[in-house]
Amino acid sequence: MQRDPVSDTIKQYNDYVISSFMKAVQPVVVASAEGCVIHDVSGKDYLDCFAGISVVNAGHCNPKVIAAAKAQMDKLVHCASYIYYSPATGALAEKMAQIMPSPRLRKSFFANGGAEAIEGAMKVARLYSGKHEIISLQASFHGRTWGTLSITGNQGRKKRGGPYASGVAFAPAPYVYRSPWPDDPRRCVDFWSQTLEDIIRFSTAGDVGAFIAEPVMGEGGIIVPPPDYFREIKKVLDRHGILFICDEVKSGFGRTGKMFAIEHFGVEPDILVTAKGIADGFPLAAFTTRDEIAASFKPGDHLSTFGGNPVSCAASLANIEYMLEEHLCEQALEKGAYLMDRLTGLKQAMPSIGEVRGLGLMVGIELVSDCKRTPATAEAEAVRDHCLSNGMLVGVGGVYGNVVRIQPPLVITRPQIDQAVEAINHALEHVQAKQTAIAR
Ligand SMILES: Cc1ncc(COP(=O)(O)O)c(C=O)c1O
Repeated sequence: MQRDPVSDTIKQYNDYVISSFMKAVQPVVVASAEGCVIHDVSGKDYLDCFAGISVVNAGHCNPKVIAAAKAQMDKLVHCASYIYYSPATGALAEKMAQIMPSPRLRKSFFANGGAEAIEGAMKVARLYSGKHEIISLQASFHGRTWGTLSITGNQGRKKRGGPYASGVAFAPAPYVYRSPWPDDPRRCVDFWSQTLEDIIRFSTAGDVGAFIAEPVMGEGGIIVPPPDYFREIKKVLDRHGILFICDEVKSGFGRTGKMFAIEHFGVEPDILVTAKGIADGFPLAAFTTRDEIAASFKPGDHLSTFGGNPVSCAASLANIEYMLEEHLCEQALEKGAYLMDRLTGLKQAMPSIGEVRGLGLMVGIELVSDCKRTPATAEAEAVRDHCLSNGMLVGVGGVYGNVVRIQPPLVITRPQIDQAVEAINHALEHVQAKQTAIAR
């Protein structure tokens, strides 16, 4: 009998793969990809504006990254990089120290995925500070292990998994659009920093080791804090001797127009966590910190069998070199400004667009169904589905599920951005026409 790669794969997924996140896995059976384009097994092309959830920043199957990984694979795939020395792991750690926002962030621990790296960051923060509580943000997302869900501020991600770890308090997200003062970010910042003081005083035992935040909140709905937010928050943290763990899992590696998003905000984190874009699709993650914080790990304290895998590290090194050579950060800044400009242009004619916001090529369109800003969740999903049937991939996120997320590979071209904006425009028109028909 003739086998059909589409129906065969979908059946294998249905029968054998645990895939609970989406109501249904998106109906694209991916065969191959390069740059910003994905090809499915039946030969249809998709413009990828989601980059595998913000991962392939240097483009799918970047030839330089693939060549480095292949060369490493011919020599060594695994050696247990924390038991024996691996040259690729050492070289990447040195490169990470060079690209960090501060020369004091010098030592890296490599893990396999974002959640594992966040767990490690929390562990070292607690060991160094000798304090045990953590403050996180409402609307945050830090992973799907029990520890990272404990510090995730989103019931949608936590439901049916509790109770979670104690010793976690949540501060308000720097979400100006849904704050009491959407037109006054300065007042919002004053309020949020005072609230952080109050939370430390009234909601903790005064034993707070670390504050964790994403510099631009991804899953929460591409929430970009006001420019002075982290400076004011850091003043509070410093008054109380609280470490700042910066979760750059999604925002790192050029995504926002700087190598790390926190560089937009003029503060120095104590621990910086990376994953996703670190190796252009190879599984790798890291936390990077100061010598004295790293030194709080004693023999036996921390290891990961696959962490610092030589192939992933070689790929990551080539990925970072490519980003620097091709000025991908600058490209993201410039292309992101163009994309935001074009999307903002759509807003006039589209009352369902509540806000277009973003930094670099981390862009969100928040959809609302009325002037009270009621989240338009079904509409965001409809936009994603319409885009998909027209050959473009976008994500949906936000605490209310009403934010269309556009996070393409940073190598996207202007004509591809134009194509993306046209597809979004069509999808929004289609969704709006449907809404009007229902209202009649
Ligand atoms: C900000 C942030 N932190 C942590 C994670 C968890 O990363 P991973 O899925 O690699 O465990 C994610 C994943 O989306 C994320 O966006």
